Amino acid sequence: MEGGWLAKGGLLLCLTVSFLLSGKAGAFTINCSGFHQNGVDPAGFQAIFDQKDFRPVTNYSIPMRVNISFTLSAILNVDAQLQLLTSFMWLKLTWHNPFISWDPEECGQIKKLSVTIENLWLPDIFIMESMDVDQTPEGLSAYVAHDGQVVYNRPVRVTSICSLDIFYFPFDQQNCTLTFSSFLYTVEHLLLGMDKEVQEMTSTSRRVARTQGEWELLSISKATPKMSVGSSLFDQILFYVAIRRRPSLYVLNLLVPSGFLVAIDALSFYLPAENENRAPFKITLLLGYNVFLLMMNDLLPASGTPLISVYLALCLALMVASLLETIFITYLLHVATTQPPPVPPWLHTLLLCAPRPANCCPTLPYKLAQGPHLPPAQQPGLKEPGKPEEPVRMAPDQQEAELNQGSGSTGVRLADQWVCLCHMTDAFLFRLYLLFLVSSVITVIALWST
Ligand SMILES: *[C@@H]1O[C@H](CO)[C@@H](O)[C@H](O)[C@H]1NC(C)=O
Ligand SMILES: *[C@@H]1O[C@H](CO)[C@@H](O)[C@H](O)[C@H]1NC(C)=O
Ligand SMILES: *[C@@H]1O[C@H](CO)[C@@H](O)[C@H](O)[C@H]1NC(C)=O
Ligand SMILES: *[C@@H]1O[C@H](CO)[C@@H](O)[C@H](O)[C@H]1NC(C)=O
Repeated sequence: MEGGWLAKGGLLLCLTVSFLLSGKAGAFTINCSGFHQNGVDPAGFQAIFDQKDFRPVTNYSIPMRVNISFTLSAILNVDAQLQLLTSFMWLKLTWHNPFISWDPEECGQIKKLSVTIENLWLPDIFIMESMDVDQTPEGLSAYVAHDGQVVYNRPVRVTSICSLDIFYFPFDQQNCTLTFSSFLYTVEHLLLGMDKEVQEMTSTSRRVARTQGEWELLSISKATPKMSVGSSLFDQILFYVAIRRRPSLYVLNLLVPSGFLVAIDALSFYLPAENENRAPFKITLLLGYNVFLLMMNDLLPASGTPLISVYLALCLALMVASLLETIFITYLLHVATTQPPPVPPWLHTLLLCAPRPANCCPTLPYKLAQGPHLPPAQQPGLKEPGKPEEPVRMAPDQQEAELNQGSGSTGVRLADQWVCLCHMTDAFLFRLYLLFLVSSVITVIALWST
């Protein structure tokens, strides 16, 4: 009797346990008999579809984990004025749905199925910096695996805020942040994770990069600080996307041409100071540079003060300075050859002590002696704009020649000394110009290379 009771009790226990087990297994297992012959039976999945409004967990005190990774396939635009980065990425979200499970052995070796996302619960993962409405195409599907793993891939075009520093334009690097976080779920309900290393994401992104445009992806790094809003704590993953501009377009279109123009401007100091072509030449150069700046203005960032603007302004300033110098020297020469004031003693000592430019002073008496006869000989070869000035210039020259002939060798030596001073001033200012040019170019290059 007692044995019978025991046997009965044991049988009852066994039955209860097996019923419980089978009941539990039945609740989470999809009946997939006939999937391989008749296609997938929606009735098998109906229970899961009906549950899509709720977070799929069996124990509500255990947070669920969503894994995030993305492949940055293109950097479409970097807007320095609005401080926006537009990029294109393939976002991959992975999570576990414990209500989905089936036995692939029973189901014709089907291991994963695609299910339209309208029928599934989706985590609400947002990019905090995004300034655009979500333009995810409709009707996407997600893969569900027989063990409950859900993989949801979607293309995202992100227009995100990024604080851009364009001081080093066009040799600049930018570091933009993409913060992935859930809008609703706090850390008690949802945790974010990654199933890939950031290095892997970087190398995949580099490999699939669709645009070989202006920007080059340097690296992606991450940080995972929690964000607290009031009393709730949210999990988030910060991705730092470092990108670098390819500068060749700007170097070839902006830096090299303005460098050439400044070089020509510097070389134009070798045109003799007496030559009337020197000033018009510099004016033409200045005009040409202004037209160049006007045309290339679109290439420059629309806001901020990049170093390149300083460089271009510096080039312009050098050209203006050299034009002013030419005007000044021309005026000095004019004064020296028409009405030379008496030579003050300091000029005398200066001329005696200073290292004279060998090419100007010794030839001057010869030039001056020929002065009245030379200009008419040169006249036909000169440019037309020089013509109206010529009679005005000629008269004082002749006057002076007469004056010189009349007053003898003292007048020649007076003019000679003043002209010599002009040439020395010219040479000195040219050296100053070169010094300033070289030092400013070196400063700009040093700033760029840091
Ligand atoms: C699975 O569904 C089929 C009909 O679609 C039914 O015949 C079979 O008994 C079910 N199996 C289980 C274990 O419920
Ligand atoms: C849910 O998980 C918590 C923490 O692990 C545990 O204490 C609790 O017993 C679980 N509840 C159920 C119903 O399994
Ligand atoms: C998320 O990634 C971790 C590894 O980083 C992995 O252990 C876990 O299974 C993944 N979870 C899902 C739902 O894929
Ligand atoms: C980008 O900025 C973040 C923090 O501001 C920093 O941790 C990260 O190292 C930076 N990345 C690069 C490549 O400079």
